[in-house]
Amino acid sequence: MRFDVVTLFPAQFRILSAEGVVARALSRGLATLTTWNPRDFATDAQRTVDDRPYGGGPGMVMKVEPLRAAIDAAKAAAAAAGCASRVAYLSPQGRRLTQADMRHIASAPGWILLAGRYEGVDERLIEACVDEEWSIGDYVLSGGELAAMVVMDAVIRLLPGALGHADSAAQDSHGDGLLDCPHYTRPEMVDGHRVPAVLLSGDHAAIARWRRRQALGRTWERRPDLLRARGLSAADQALLDDFMRDRGGPDPEQAAEQEP
Ligand SMILES: C[S@@+](CC[C@H](N)C(=O)[O-])C[C@H]1O[C@@H](n2cnc3c(N)ncnc32)[C@H](O)[C@@H]1O
Repeated sequence: MRFDVVTLFPAQFRILSAEGVVARALSRGLATLTTWNPRDFATDAQRTVDDRPYGGGPGMVMKVEPLRAAIDAAKAAAAAAGCASRVAYLSPQGRRLTQADMRHIASAPGWILLAGRYEGVDERLIEACVDEEWSIGDYVLSGGELAAMVVMDAVIRLLPGALGHADSAAQDSHGDGLLDCPHYTRPEMVDGHRVPAVLLSGDHAAIARWRRRQALGRTWERRPDLLRARGLSAADQALLDDFMRDRGGPDPEQAAEQEP
């Protein structure tokens, strides 16, 4: 998979190839990353990429021409490599991304990611060159670089071969619309808290049932909106009812009438 990133701060992306899952995926060629600095496409002596906003007000706005030239160069390079990349602008005004979006993004051959700075980019550039606008959450960052790296990390770890175990990503939170179950490792006892006995039992079916029950219960406790969105099979509902009874939560029959 190919990523081209249009950014005024290409050095920030070095962190991706430094260590961890994404660095390994990049070094093994599962994904590639090329950065394009709009400053290299500015035509004046000062290499200007921003200007004051029409109408006044604070901050600067990224200009159309250097951004468009950088995006065009990225598109041409992607096309020459046989990759029809679409353009996504990282923006707090974009669609708030979910794990399902990350899977969709990972299924494309490549993306050109546009990282904004200052007050953002001239609206006419968005209208002319941007196919999608993505937000990583309802807060404002000082630039789109971190947002682009968040997307790249979440997407690259989904690529076949990126994670040590093929099932890892599917079992993570949001993999199938639930939160992940709790995890434990050695030692068996920490500050008087013992690992749940079932995890030491060697009974794989019982362990799988316990994990599913925990994932359902945890989602019900922390993110009931997720359960409402996905619905439950009869088997999952029975496991959740069991979890709720154990927790002394609402009577499952009543809960079913209310939420999730
Ligand atoms: C200071 S922000 C500009 C915010 C803009 N004035 C607004 O209120 O919509 C600068 C850049 O950071 C990036 N950015 C900020 N918050 C973001 C978020 N939540 N998700 C994705 N990108 C974000 C965008 O690329 C944006 O152009």
